[in-house]
Amino acid sequence: MTENMYEIKDKIRQRFVKVAIDPTAPQRYPTGPATAKKLGYDPAEIDGLPASMTESFAGVGNPLGLHEVRPGETVVDIGCGAGVDSILAARKFGPSGRVFGVDMTAEMVKKATDIAVAAAVANVEFRQGEADRLPVLDGTVDVVISNGVFNLCFDKPKVLAEVFRVLRPGGRLQMADILLGDAVTDEQVEKKGAWSD
Ligand SMILES: C[S@@+](CC[C@H](N)C(=O)[O-])C[C@H]1O[C@@H](n2cnc3c(N)ncnc32)[C@H](O)[C@@H]1O
Repeated sequence: MTENMYEIKDKIRQRFVKVAIDPTAPQRYPTGPATAKKLGYDPAEIDGLPASMTESFAGVGNPLGLHEVRPGETVVDIGCGAGVDSILAARKFGPSGRVFGVDMTAEMVKKATDIAVAAAVANVEFRQGEADRLPVLDGTVDVVISNGVFNLCFDKPKVLAEVFRVLRPGGRLQMADILLGDAVTDEQVEKKGAWSD
């Protein structure tokens, strides 16, 4: 990474530390339970999660809704944040399934872990780590999910290579993300919010 990339990454980190520890502070992008419901999550499922978790939801879609659930599968949630998709996956894939949530910020990992422990969700584990160096063994995962994270990663081919490394043959990637269309102007990008705020 160039020096500028390190600076941007540090700002991204600071942004999500803020979403973890001060989720009600004004953000330039939509967060929280109302956003999750707008993105197609079952409102009852969102209301059934601890508010301390859904308040830090920062996803852009509903990756678990992209494929049927096969109970017993092993799932990795890249950039899990406060763990909304990870906990939903732990419930959906059931006690014989296993979920690993990975996030680069210690604050998100601590928040997700504390909530999972308090809610006695035993089949989920949160690990601090980078999307392009996942702390997960080769060929041990059935499903990789990710919600709003690839756009924040500089080396997307490297992240995809990591996805392929951890997936078993026949495994799948279910992801939601934002894309920059050709017609979008710099001014529109500026209005919507940039890499960091
Ligand atoms: C937009 S938020 C989405 C969080 C979560 N997926 C959700 O739906 O609420 C992006 C998350 O990815 C994490 N993140 C950003 N870049 C990352 C990277 N290179 N490796 C691991 N995590 C990263 C951030 O710390 C943040 O928690």
